[in-house]
Amino acid sequence: MSTSHEQPLAAQSLGSASETISDLPKRAIGIDVGGTGIKGGLVNLHKGTLTGERFRIPTPKPATPEAVAEVIGEILDELLTREKAPALEELSVGVLFPAIVDKNIVLSAANIDESWINTDAAKLLRHLPGQIHTLNDADGAGLAEARYGAGKGLEGTVMTITLGTGIGSALVHDGVLVPNSEMGHLEFEGEVAEKKASAAARERSDMPWDEYGQLLNRFLKHVERLQSPELFIIGGGISKRSEDFLPEIKDLRAKVEVAALQNNAGIVGAALYAAEQTRLKASRGRS
Ligand code: BGC
Repeated sequence: MSTSHEQPLAAQSLGSASETISDLPKRAIGIDVGGTGIKGGLVNLHKGTLTGERFRIPTPKPATPEAVAEVIGEILDELLTREKAPALEELSVGVLFPAIVDKNIVLSAANIDESWINTDAAKLLRHLPGQIHTLNDADGAGLAEARYGAGKGLEGTVMTITLGTGIGSALVHDGVLVPNSEMGHLEFEGEVAEKKASAAARERSDMPWDEYGQLLNRFLKHVERLQSPELFIIGGGISKRSEDFLPEIKDLRAKVEVAALQNNAGIVGAALYAAEQTRLKASRGRS
């Protein structure tokens, strides 16, 4: 078993997780684009924590790529005025979207404006300072949880499930992220899972918490049959109410824990991903 400061062996030898955290620059910026707010923060990558307050601007309506890009620029401007902001030459910025993101191309739009589909987010944001890297929102949160939070130091598969407007998922194996797992779009009991089991779906149907816990338990069993994780981490705003649904989560092989970084997981994971990608790009350029 590796210690909490080391990456498991596979992670040391693979792609984006090949750097140990202490080799990364001390700070980077993470930005999380959500349905109601766009939030950013300066992240201390050595500790996995925010340095100072996060900064939030409501998501513009309609949330077109151009309108969202403008807000991302405003958030970056604000964060860069802060005393502890990284110098521009070593700045990495991670931006998360609630959508499938493959090599910076946004490929779905279940909970964002349809005009995002096929948008090249790297191109859209290339006028902004720093090296910008983009990722799915749940992947960002799951990466942070696996490296600094509830899954820290664990070998094997850690599956983070975020419950909000939709259901997001992040599959991390030995510290390495396999992006865009999209478990919220599995068919589950005759429907797209997130339509039935997201936090928003619970609110819409005014479902009592114990009943929701049982529904979630069946969903986790369904995912467990497909992915056999060691650990499920439950994230998203709903993790604050975990005592209301966790008692119903039972009979799984996997352990189940609540996200340790809570609201900040996305911002922290975005910053970590960006710093690792910047490092990886530089090392590929050298070889
Ligand atoms: C999207 C995912 C996203 C999740 C949470 C889902 O509808 O398909 O990409 O991670 O919502 O925002």
